[in-house]
Amino acid sequence: MLSLSKHCTSSSANTSKEKQPFDKLRASGVLRNLDKSSPILLFDSGVGGLTVYDALRDVLPHAPVIYAADLAGLPYGTKTEAQIAARVAGLLGRMAERYQPRLACIACNTASTIALGMVRDVLEIPVVGTVPAIKPAAALTRTGTIGLVGTGATIRQAYVDDLEAKFATGKRLLRIAAPGLVEAAEAKLRGKPVDPALIAEVHAQLTAMPGAADIDTLVLACTHFPLLADELAAAFGPGVRQIDGAQGIARRIADLLEGQSFAAHGPNRFIVTGPLSGAAGLEAALASRGFGAAEAF
Ligand code: DGL
Repeated sequence: MLSLSKHCTSSSANTSKEKQPFDKLRASGVLRNLDKSSPILLFDSGVGGLTVYDALRDVLPHAPVIYAADLAGLPYGTKTEAQIAARVAGLLGRMAERYQPRLACIACNTASTIALGMVRDVLEIPVVGTVPAIKPAAALTRTGTIGLVGTGATIRQAYVDDLEAKFATGKRLLRIAAPGLVEAAEAKLRGKPVDPALIAEVHAQLTAMPGAADIDTLVLACTHFPLLADELAAAFGPGVRQIDGAQGIARRIADLLEGQSFAAHGPNRFIVTGPLSGAAGLEAALASRGFGAAEAF
């Protein structure tokens, strides 16, 4: 098996130095010999990573994709770092063995900010992480005040402190945990209504923080949250711009896979951990994205 260990990348936090070894390999043409049906593996605790999938389809409409939702482990945001790291690294190792992907993307901020390094140690393929879009938010804000909503596990990570120190020095970054939004996004994709009180509570919690009146940019630091973009926009109003990392991640994946060939009818599969009943209600959301029925891992 082609070993790409250590030749990995993340999203916005990457430096050109980190990218270089992989880029050299790509330039050498070695990667073009991959099996054409080898998929891109997108991984999340649930359906949140479909926001990354949607962005990926804009840049790579035909690449084979296996989307894996760890519904048996959902939600990650209320778990400990040790639980998340062990679960994500173990599952991705087994999934990589079974599906032989050409690249894996952890389409989950919680898992990426905790376990990206560990997953890269386990996998022999490039691994793209999803980390809070603090860098682009810092470039966009005019008031210098940025709100960030994520899971409880994400907002306490040193990884996020480092992103703030590196890219948002001199700005004010106000973070809150909004675990209820994960559940609401899962329900919405299953056709259920979103409780307006829940969105109002998130808005109230963030805007109660000192300095929050100046927020003009809101980082959606959980891949589930763009599924609630309309509801959040209604609550925060037109003066607050939402930003997430999906498009940047999709572009990074496309860049890493540049020059590779894809089988015309490669797999496009939606896999879940735990009982298949966990995917009940997702049929329309999956069909509209070109997936067949959910399959068990
Ligand atoms: N979608 C995940 C993220 O981006 C988190 C959801 C969960 O709590 O499992 O953080």
